[in-house]
Formats: sequence, structure tokens, C-alpha cells
Amino acid sequence: MAGRNRPQRRTPWNWARSPVVPFGAFILAAMAWASVSARDLSGEGLADACTSCHGLGGRSQGYIPSIAGVGKTTLLRQLKAFRSQSAQATIMNRIARAYTDSELEALADYFSAAPRQ
Ligand code: HEC
Repeated sequence: MAGRNRPQRRTPWNWARSPVVPFGAFILAAMAWASVSARDLSGEGLADACTSCHGLGGRSQGYIPSIAGVGKTTLLRQLKAFRSQSAQATIMNRIARAYTDSELEALADYFSAAPRQ
């Protein structure tokens, strides 16, 4: 009688089997990932978003212009012109809008220093 309605005890083993555990692990992993990417504002980290079109290190294999080894001033001028919508573009005007001045500068730094070959 006494034991019949006793609530199930939360032993450590019960907690480990609860869905909270994998969910918590996922949240922790996501937070670790987010804090790494938030810190990684180096040109190299930011440049990952460009390589799918402009090629690895900015060396394009296709019709999209290569941007590796182009002077920093030129790159920065082009990127700011895209951002302010004052340059004709199919896609770059939309992409450039996502970046701050210092991020565009880091990108221009990175690609101007990247070897052309
Ligand atoms: C979806 C494909 C795509 C992505 C991603 C992309 N670009 Fe572009 N980029 C283009 C295209 C296409 C052009 C030619 C202009 C246009 O039509 O928008 C261009 C042009 C440029 C130019 C001018 C080059 C020239 O010689 O005229 C620069 C500089 C540039 N992109 C930098 C970047 C940077 C930096 C990133 C990453 C933040 C980036 N692009 C991401 C497609 C892309």
C-alpha cells in the first residue's frame, strides 16, 4: 500500500535517459560553435563565405572574377560600391550589405594578400 503511489524517484540514471540530456548537449555544442564563429572575425574566417563563388583563396576557376591578389584599395572600393548599391551587380550588392566597414576591410586585407596562383 505505502509503496504503490510513490512517485518514481529521479535517480541519476533516470536523468541520463531523459531527453533533456541530448538536448542540453546539443545546446552546449551550438553555443561553443557560436562563440567560436563570433570571435572569428579574421579575414580568413570571413572569407569562407566567398570561396564558393570566388574559389579557394579567391582564385576563381569559372566566370566569376578572381579576387586573389587584387590591391586592397581596389577590393575595398569595389566592396563598398556594392554595399552602397552604386556598382552594377547581380548578387554582390546583396552580399556586401551584410558586412560592417571593419569586416570589409578584413576581407580586402585577406584577399589582397592571397596569392594569385
Ligand atoms: C553567390 C556567389 C558569390 C559570393 C558568395 C560572393 N561573390 Fe563576389 N562576386 C560574385 C559575382 C557574380 C560578381 C560579379 C558582380 C556581380 O554580378 O554581382 C562578384 C564580384 C566581386 C568583386 C568584384 C570583382 C571584380 O573584379 O569586379 C569583389 C571584390 C567580390 N565579389 C568580393 C566578394 C567577397 C569579399 C565575398 C565574400 C564576402 C564575395 N565576393 C562573395 C559572386 C559572389
